[in-house]
Amino acid sequence: MKKDIVKIGVIGCGAIANQYHMPALKSLPDCEVVAVCDWIPERAKAAADYFGLPQNRAFTEDEALLALDEIQGVLILTPNYNHCEVTELAASWKSMSLSPNLWDAHWTNAAA
Ligand SMILES: NC(=O)c1ccc[n+]([C@@H]2O[C@H](COP(=O)([O-])OP(=O)(O)OC[C@H]3O[C@@H](n4cnc5c(N)ncnc54)[C@H](O)[C@@H]3O)[C@@H](O)[C@H]2O)c1
Repeated sequence: MKKDIVKIGVIGCGAIANQYHMPALKSLPDCEVVAVCDWIPERAKAAADYFGLPQNRAFTEDEALLALDEIQGVLILTPNYNHCEVTELAASWKSMSLSPNLWDAHWTNAAA
């Protein structure tokens, strides 16, 4: 049976994203990064290159990434001071729930 592929957006493409989260996302068979966002355009562009995405999937505004219909989940990898703000934005835009990891996200979505 073919598993569903979860379409993911990455918000914040800085140090920890590049060092840990982006390689981990690339290695997962059941998710696909379809868009990236960073306030610093060069970081967004580099992340899009890393995932083999076209440059029109490299955003500098969170709302533009969240506006994509296909986005099903986001990884918020911004600094601590704006985690809440970005999480609130994603939740209000997409009715997303907050999950600390992929397993919790699956269970939470299944229950919704
Ligand atoms: N650096 C570490 O060793 C480390 C270790 C563990 C956890 N963390 C956590 O990882 C998170 C990120 O840390 P980092 O070191 O990668 O920081 P960083 O400053 O290198 O990267 C954060 C990136 O987010 C971007 N950004 C900020 N707000 C944004 C927004 N609203 N939309 C789009 N882009 C936005 C910034 O431009 C920057 O490129 C923090 O919560 C930190 O606590 C970091």
